[in-house]
Amino acid sequence: MKQAIDRLVERLDGRAPEMALVLGSGLGSLAGEVENAVRIPYGELPGFPESGVTGHAGEVVAGRLSGTDVLVLSGRAHYYEHGNAAAMRPVLETLAGIGIGKLLLTNAAGSLREDMAPGSVMLISDHINFSGSNPLFGEPTDRRFVGMTEAYDAELRAGLKRAAVATGIDLHEGVYMWFSGPSFETPAEIRMARVLGADAVGMSTVPEVILARFLGLRVAACSVITNLAAGMTGQELSHDETKEVAPLGGRRLAAILKAMLAEGRTG
Ligand code: HPA
Repeated sequence: MKQAIDRLVERLDGRAPEMALVLGSGLGSLAGEVENAVRIPYGELPGFPESGVTGHAGEVVAGRLSGTDVLVLSGRAHYYEHGNAAAMRPVLETLAGIGIGKLLLTNAAGSLREDMAPGSVMLISDHINFSGSNPLFGEPTDRRFVGMTEAYDAELRAGLKRAAVATGIDLHEGVYMWFSGPSFETPAEIRMARVLGADAVGMSTVPEVILARFLGLRVAACSVITNLAAGMTGQELSHDETKEVAPLGGRRLAAILKAMLAEGRTG
């Protein structure tokens, strides 16, 4: 880890970001809006993942966004790529190691609510880990017993809600249920997810939230809704649809994020 921290500090060249943003599907273009940017491919940073999913780049972009120093992570490792829920651990340890205290995660998700249509944005209030896995499997210290009662930071969430109001964009709020993927859910699984209290389903983010809390990072997360979940429309789901629809909600979420940064509403 020390190698990645040293390398990143060297490449940041005096920049001192307080917040990191992980860009999921549809948010990629936000990395291009960072000013005074330094771009560092994941390949230069030991332990950072090789990203194998189409629609995800794999670089760190550090600079200013809406007047705030940020570090943007374009591309993430997913559990379904290799079955390793801790694949993002070196990344988050590196962030914590350079003094970043706040993490904002974004993803694409399927909606369980008819009133939360494709193109909408959902602030994650809580999650259900339905994968059966955990990024802290194998962690030998008692620190592994991480409290998750207030996993999603109240101040960051309040800042995002205020930013949404300021931009006039609807920000839904709900529970995100982590399925391992990579196959999409069945209609029966979606009916189950609804009974269990989920509002959206997706294949990422939850391991990163657990790791963030383990490392003492404050974290918030938002989903871009790309589709109604399996069985809700009579149509088959596809990754192409996710990639096609994601930029619409992505633009809305990007506007909310920028408004939050501009107002210094990052808690
Ligand atoms: N299920 C799981 N992950 C997703 C979906 C979905 O319907 N849409 C986008 N990511």
